[in-house]
Order: sequence, then C-alpha cells, then structure tokens
Amino acid sequence: MPPVTKAVLALDQGTTSSRAIAFGRDGRVLGVAQQEFRQIFPQPGWVEHDAGEIWRTQRDVAAQALAKAGLSAGEVAAVGITNQRETTVVWDRKTGAPIAHAIVWQDRRTAARCDTLRQAGHEALFAERTGLVLDAYFSGTKLAWILDNVAGARARAERGELAFGTIDTWLAWKLSNGAAHVTDVSNASRTLLFNIHTLDWDDELLAILDIPRALLPRVVASSGVVATTECEGLPRGMAIAGIAGDQQAALFGQACHRPGMAKNTYGTGCFLLMNTGERPARSSHRLLTTVAWKRQDKTQYALEGSVFIAGAAIQWLRDGLGIISSAPEIESLAASVPDAGGVFFVPALAGLGAPYWDPRARGAIVGLTRGATRAHLARATLEAIAFQSAELLEAMTADAAIHLTELRVDGGATASNLLMQMQANLLGVPVVRPKVTETTALGAAYLAGLATGFWRDEAEIAALWERDRVFEPALSRDAAATRLAEWKRAVERARDWSRD
Ligand code: G3P
Repeated sequence: MPPVTKAVLALDQGTTSSRAIAFGRDGRVLGVAQQEFRQIFPQPGWVEHDAGEIWRTQRDVAAQALAKAGLSAGEVAAVGITNQRETTVVWDRKTGAPIAHAIVWQDRRTAARCDTLRQAGHEALFAERTGLVLDAYFSGTKLAWILDNVAGARARAERGELAFGTIDTWLAWKLSNGAAHVTDVSNASRTLLFNIHTLDWDDELLAILDIPRALLPRVVASSGVVATTECEGLPRGMAIAGIAGDQQAALFGQACHRPGMAKNTYGTGCFLLMNTGERPARSSHRLLTTVAWKRQDKTQYALEGSVFIAGAAIQWLRDGLGIISSAPEIESLAASVPDAGGVFFVPALAGLGAPYWDPRARGAIVGLTRGATRAHLARATLEAIAFQSAELLEAMTADAAIHLTELRVDGGATASNLLMQMQANLLGVPVVRPKVTETTALGAAYLAGLATGFWRDEAEIAALWERDRVFEPALSRDAAATRLAEWKRAVERARDWSRD
C-alpha cells in the first residue's frame, strides 16, 4: 500500500531568500527552511540575481524542510511553487544554463524603453490587453533588454534554442529536469506580454516588443499537476501541482476567495490585492489589473497596488546605514520615541510604484532637525510603510467603490505591533493578522493540495483561516488625513530625481 499523504510542500522563492515549508492538513507548519542569496547591484538602479544560485538554494531548502518535517516522498501529496514575480530569466534549452543574470523586478534599466513605448502611443493598448502600466517593473522590457544586449541572444531565440521564464517557470523546469516549460496565468499576467482577457500571449504586444513566441512557456492553470520532480537532490516523483505569483498566492492563502476581500503583504515590498471576481476590473487610479488565479476552469481577477520598498527599507537601515543590527530591533528603537519628530523617510530606493509609477524617484529623508535621532528615522521608516499602503487602499477604495470592512495582513513585518497599529490608524479599518502569517507559501500549498485532492474545496481552506490579533483604528479620520497630506508633500520631494 502507498503511504498515506501527510503534507504539501510549498516552495516560496522570494526576492531575498528561498524558503520551503511543509504544511499539514490543518494548515499548520510541519517543517521550514530558508536561505538568503546574493543581491547583485551592477549599477545604480540595476538589480540582478544568479538564477543558478536561486535554483540551488531553493532545492536545498526544499530537502531541508522535508527532513525537518520527517517526510518521505510518498507522504508528500503535492508540491506548490510561489515566487517573486516579473524577475526575468533566459536559459539555453539544451544545457539548462542561464545566458545572463536574472533581471530582478526592482531593476529600473528599461525605464527609457518604457518612455519610448509611451511616446509611440502604446500605453493604452498595453493597459487594455495586460491590465498593467508601461513600467520597467514588468518582464516584457527586461526580456527585450536581454535579447538586445546579450551577444547572440536574439538569433538563438529566433532559432528556438532559448527559453524565457519568470522564476516559477525556471523552478518548474529545473524540478522536472526540463520536462515542463510552463508558467501559470498569475505569473504570465505580470509580463506585459499576456492578454488577460483571452488568457494567451498577445501577438501584437510581442511584435511591438520584438519578442519571438518560440521563447515563451506554455500557460497553465494555477492549480493542476504539470509535472513530477525528477532532479538531483530531491525525492523523485512528487507532483508539481500548483503555481502562483507570491502576491496572488498570499491572497489565496488569506482565504480572500470572494470579491471585495483584500490582503496586504509586508515583504520586500508591500502588495495590496483585492479580489474582484471573475471579470477584470479596470483602475482609474493607476492600480494594476491582474489575474489572481485560475482553478477548475474558473479565472479570478484582482486589483493590485504595488509598493516596491517596504521591508527592504528596514533592511537598508540594517545593511546600508547600520543603525540597527537586526530587522526586529526596529520595533523597540521606533517605540523609544513618541513620534517621528517631524521626520519623513520616502523609501523610493527603486523608484516609486503605485500610484505614482515614477522610475526616476529616489529615496529622500526630509524634516530633519538638530534633535533628530536614529530612533526618529526608525519610526519614520515604519510610518513610511504604513503611509505607502494607506495610499494604495485610498486608490483601491476609489476604484472599486467598495468600503473595506477589514484588511488581512501577512508577511514578515506584520510581527511589528507598532506598524500594524500605525496601519490601522491611517486606514481607519481594522487590520487583521492571522495565526499563520506564512500566507504566501500556504496559498501555494493550498493551490497544489486542492489539485491532488489533499484538500477538498475552498470552504475547507477558509475554515482553517484563524485570526491572531485585530488592530482597531485609534486616530480620528481628520488627524489621519492631515498625516497623509504631510506624507504626500514629502513624496513630492523625492519624485523625478534621477537623471538616468
Ligand atoms: O512583484 C514582486 C513581488 O512578487 C516580490 O515579492 O515577497 O519577494 O517582496 P517579495
């Protein structure tokens, strides 16, 4: 008799670390492993990863998580993949070797290309077909950059020798030893190449960006078996059964299955997504329309507000400035002062995302006086994360004409009670932290486990969702509006700064 399945393994490939978590049937963590990897900054505004290192760290943490949970391959019902989105990898189909470093979502090198596309009048077409704005954030212009700048790449792409993928694609390829060249609809919807209405690559957009179709992966549903593991270093034969971009996976993991439900994830960046149901909702406040997931032939869409730097600002205080020695230290330092003393930190370290979409904005600290200390800067950093998210919710509420009754939150920085309270104060709605804040990995596990029958349906998953703590707003709406207006003045100082 085959062993009884006990768990689903989620691979959560993030911007700064590779993580793997084994979840039991009750949604609890059975084993977890994590490894950071190198961030490569070849020039100001450029951010790269070594795709080989991404693969090796991801494979190793997967093996470690299984070992910690004491699981054999036969006990794993499914493997789910979730990933930093938009990051672009191109590799040789024969050797599996990347032809260049991966260009990371935060990389701004294609800002000028986006300007040119806009000047040529293409913005409306891209918005209509893809739900996105013309920004260097997305994969399309990054892929075009690789084809135009890596010697021989274009000719090889046209001969069908190369494969393109976002990180989900890369991992599925490596896990299956080259058997699967796939991406799911949620990841595809972040490429600028994918038509979110027909759910297929868009030939007209491919022509504008001059991208050969031969490079592209097959687009699959977010829940469904695509291949089995067949690689060195991991047990063979585990079903790869779920794929979703990390923010969409978090929306699923937060059990935001119905229209109007929203979550905010505090990771490297901050990503606020609201489920808008089975039809794409257009934004008039510069938010993105994106595919949430496709499951059982049903596609759900979301509105998304993307902030590029959130947790990364705390990392910068640690690694760039050295004013804290570990990220959690920010909490006590920020709490040691009653307010930020008039200091505002606009962490536009990778330009600004929604709702500004300004690739040339750069970080700014304003309001410094002789009495300002590192504690004020620490507090201003937490406030910046909350302000940026408040602006997203403002835009989303205006767009969707929905008044949220609560905001579900997840991600590393939700451990900060101070930040969560600031967030509730600014938003004016309760901020709800669940017991399991590993929601991104959990969402990928759920999508994979649903495909293999480990979990029955969405209702079973929603029943597993449990709240840890609710942060109620404790600031008048007038005071919150004043604070937000001050923040917006600070943002204006940071805008359009770089000459690149
Ligand atoms: O769009 C970028 C996003 O997917 C990155 O997520 O969790 O690595 O900050 P994270």
